[in-house]
Amino acid sequence: MSSPLKHARSAWRKYLILPKLIRLSRSAPKDRTEAWNRYWAGIGSTGTSSEVLWDSGSDNELRGYRDVLARHFDPDLPVVDVGCGHGAFSRALAAFSPQVIGVDVADHAVARARSESAGVDNLSFVACDMTRPGAGAGLAGPTDANVFIRGVLHVLDTADQAALMENLRQLVGGRGRVFLAETNFRGNPVEYVSHLGASLRRIPAPLELAIRKLPMPGHFGPDELAAVMPTERWTLVEDGAATIETNPLMDADGDSRIPGYFAVLKGETPAQEALSA
Ligand SMILES: C[S@@+](CC[C@H](N)C(=O)[O-])C[C@H]1O[C@@H](n2cnc3c(N)ncnc32)[C@H](O)[C@@H]1O
Repeated sequence: MSSPLKHARSAWRKYLILPKLIRLSRSAPKDRTEAWNRYWAGIGSTGTSSEVLWDSGSDNELRGYRDVLARHFDPDLPVVDVGCGHGAFSRALAAFSPQVIGVDVADHAVARARSESAGVDNLSFVACDMTRPGAGAGLAGPTDANVFIRGVLHVLDTADQAALMENLRQLVGGRGRVFLAETNFRGNPVEYVSHLGASLRRIPAPLELAIRKLPMPGHFGPDELAAVMPTERWTLVEDGAATIETNPLMDADGDSRIPGYFAVLKGETPAQEALSA
């Protein structure tokens, strides 16, 4: 068989998985908070033998962000890890930050993060929906805070992204900065799960669990950021390509590394608010 034909056949074969994907994803709760809470309630292991799709079990990805964080985060400010999940990044951040507060919408994620972080004194966790109006207020006490957010915006719809961004602006005030890192895979859901090793024959277990229990994620890059970052409220300080490291089990048939996007933002006080303050 000629190679263009072979290529077309294998590209087409990928789509045979579609009915299976639709069947699996039907069981995911429609309510996002409930979906996240049930997902975390069912997780038995994290770290090096993780059941969690986006858990590489290593701090390698965070080490790649260290220079950017050092350039922009005021080291005296607390860090709020928004959508902290089981707290792996919160714990790694606590090693070089004065205080870290992990926040997640799922009570079960927060409970797990707390139990995995026992003995880390400068780290605490709070259950909170960060899309709720005013959710940022007081989270880090009276002071401005830096915000770290990884893998959260791409799982929200645009309205929730915008609501969350407004809460982040309240949190960072004038001195804090937001660092975000998100998956920015530019393909359709079949191409996304194929990249992570799913085929008609087999779907890696952490990926299958996420498909069964969670809403299908989107992607988040410069265009998506621009749509929820009004320039009178935010200044983009730095951005670029990132690599999101997921569970190494994905490497058996696919690639655990997902193309991503990072950005650093500074909050602005809109002129009208400044006048009425
Ligand atoms: C893909 S996971 C990433 C977890 C963690 N940031 C990490 O990288 O390991 C997304 C996390 O965001 C949380 N989340 C989703 N919606 C949220 C919301 N509205 N407010 C706070 N957390 C939320 C989920 O419960 C989940 O733990």
